[in-house]
Amino acid sequence: MTEAKKLRICLAIVAALTLIIATMAYKFIIAGSTGETHDGRVPVLLESAERLFVLKEMRGLLSGVQQLSAALARDDLASAARLARSMGREADSAERATLMGKLPLAFKTMGLGVHADFDDMANRAESAAGTKVSSKELLLQLSGTLQKCVACHAQFQLELPPPAKSAQSGHSARIVASSGD
Ligand code: HEC
Repeated sequence: MTEAKKLRICLAIVAALTLIIATMAYKFIIAGSTGETHDGRVPVLLESAERLFVLKEMRGLLSGVQQLSAALARDDLASAARLARSMGREADSAERATLMGKLPLAFKTMGLGVHADFDDMANRAESAAGTKVSSKELLLQLSGTLQKCVACHAQFQLELPPPAKSAQSGHSARIVASSGD
């Protein structure tokens, strides 16, 4: 084999590997794992445990914003700071890499944006003493953050991936076999 031929083969391998890496990066960082739309929202396909994990985090957020709005209505900025912090970026650290790879970029961006907002609210509530920051202002900021919850819910839903074909047919075959007795 000539040197030029070897070089061409090398370049072809590098090009193929680059394409594979670029495709994987696109899938992992930008596209995530999504399916066909049913009602205009994009279904994000997650395994059952991952879906339950995300939904549990969601219920935690709802409970958190309920308590946060009550604390702000009472002008209790110390509690408000603590509650907002509990929904900040720290709360996100448990997220697993495989799960992150299945979430589309827009989903991750909105999710991280919400956590960052709560950190900002916590910082403002913590340093509110002696400044002009009021509960009412923080309540307005909370309503802006809630708009991000609304926007993400309008765009995405969580679904399980379709069951494997072989598992389905095996199951129905067993039902047919036992229906005779
Ligand atoms: C990055 C996207 C995103 C953001 C931001 C987001 N959610 Fe969700 N949330 C979802 C998706 C997707 C579902 C599942 C909807 C479905 O499958 O129909 C969901 C479901 C929920 C549920 C239902 C949980 C259950 O057990 O069924 C609650 C409650 C909830 N979200 C509250 C919130 C609150 C409060 C916020 C803001 C503080 C928020 N979410 C921000 C995407 C998001």
